[in-house]
Amino acid sequence: MNEERGFTLWFTGLSGSGKTTISEIVEHELRERERSVEVLDGDIVRTNLSKGLTFSRDDRNVNVLRIGFVANLLTRNGVGVIVSAISPYKEARDQVRRRIVDFVEVFVDAPLEVCAERDVKGLYKKAFSGEIEQFTGVSDPYEPPNAPDLVLKTDEESPDESARKVIEKLEFFGYLWPREAQETEYNWSST
Ligand code: ADX
Repeated sequence: MNEERGFTLWFTGLSGSGKTTISEIVEHELRERERSVEVLDGDIVRTNLSKGLTFSRDDRNVNVLRIGFVANLLTRNGVGVIVSAISPYKEARDQVRRRIVDFVEVFVDAPLEVCAERDVKGLYKKAFSGEIEQFTGVSDPYEPPNAPDLVLKTDEESPDESARKVIEKLEFFGYLWPREAQETEYNWSST
């Protein structure tokens, strides 16, 4: 019961689709359940592990493969790894997916117009004006996954609803025990 099965929960989607927001809620829930968790967020990874990489196709794929490399090390040691990275190219995502046995791919699917409207970081405005080049969805491609384990329509559901779906998926795959089961087990062992 207490043995932890590692996994990589990989959020892919446009900038502003809600990857980081949802992953923060999921992270919190996993910590509540006393799971060991590590988060690899594209924005942060690009300030250290992938510092200096551009947004060219090759560099984005290098970024994704690096994240995948670290995620694999952690996953095989029982950690629940949460990755949020645009990871726009199928080829690199699939390469990581093949390497990591316990891999759950989540497509955070929000229409470009919605992401641009949100424009949390003010980057879409710059992308549309041409100040930022090669911006995913605007002047650079995004290849949606063909067969993700879960699709989250973040323009139709709240972050809490999306996070709940993720937790349920982890439970379904056996990476996480449903809360009731945890409580039942606890009651048994304490009587
Ligand atoms: S990835 O394509 O290599 O997977 P990653 O998720 O690490 O991207 O970084 C994306 C973040 O970098 C965005 O959320 C945004 O804040 C910032 N960014 C800066 N320039 C770009 C760009 N040209 N395209 C996409 N994101 C960019």
